[in-house]
Amino acid sequence: MESKAELRHRIRWQRRQLGLGERTRAARRLTAVLRRSRWYRYSRRIACYWATDGEMDLSGFLQRAHQDGRAIYLPVLNQRPVKKLRFHRYRPGERLRANRFGIPEPLPQQANRIACRDLDLVLVPLVAFDGQGHRLGMGAGFYDHTFAFIRHQQGRWRRPRLLGIAFSFQRIAALPVEPWDIPLADVATERGLARCQIEHRSRSSNPNRS
Ligand SMILES: Nc1ncnc2c1ncn2[C@@H]1O[C@H](COP(=O)(O)OP(=O)(O)OP(=O)(O)O)[C@@H](O)[C@H]1O
Ligand SMILES: [Mg+2]
Repeated sequence: MESKAELRHRIRWQRRQLGLGERTRAARRLTAVLRRSRWYRYSRRIACYWATDGEMDLSGFLQRAHQDGRAIYLPVLNQRPVKKLRFHRYRPGERLRANRFGIPEPLPQQANRIACRDLDLVLVPLVAFDGQGHRLGMGAGFYDHTFAFIRHQQGRWRRPRLLGIAFSFQRIAALPVEPWDIPLADVATERGLARCQIEHRSRSSNPNRS
């Protein structure tokens, strides 16, 4: 089995090789997949991300979602060493500024901040995923740290729902899992929803069986 570092390297490299046409098509399909899903229908406050390193581009999706009346939030990095993301409201066209990784983020005005537990849905970037909802990220642990509180919630009331976003080629058979990894409720790709079979959640609480 490849190590996490090898997997990250290989898949990130493959992802950067995708051409512009392929990316644009995939992003358009993903927007349709998301807007048709029950995850979306029942969510009012949705956290997105600003694509970097060849990640699936959500800019088209967030414009449509904004027009659909959804409130959109983007992550803002905390000061070091705290590895927690904060989420701030973003309306398409508003000014963003680059964080220490060069990723655009909203200006951190307190009035525009939302508590993580008040989000309905979080679209989570990833490097690789498997059919169990396991996620391999970039390796800093930001999403795991930020949403560690979900682990303590019971049954069907888990909020927010974490929905991984990826190109379908990022799926692998099985990922190594760490005790601190927070599982995804599902993963959306340009081909549809992965419909992750997650052991800890009963199938009847899956809002996504359309
Ligand atoms: N809840 C936590 N408690 C303690 N340590 C954590 C926790 N979450 C993450 N970490 C630390 O973060 C580091 C990176 O985690 P991991 O390898 O799972 O990254 P990742 O999920 O791939 O990255 P990211 O979430 O940033 O995209 C781990 O070495 C681990 O020590
Ligand atoms: Mg992790």
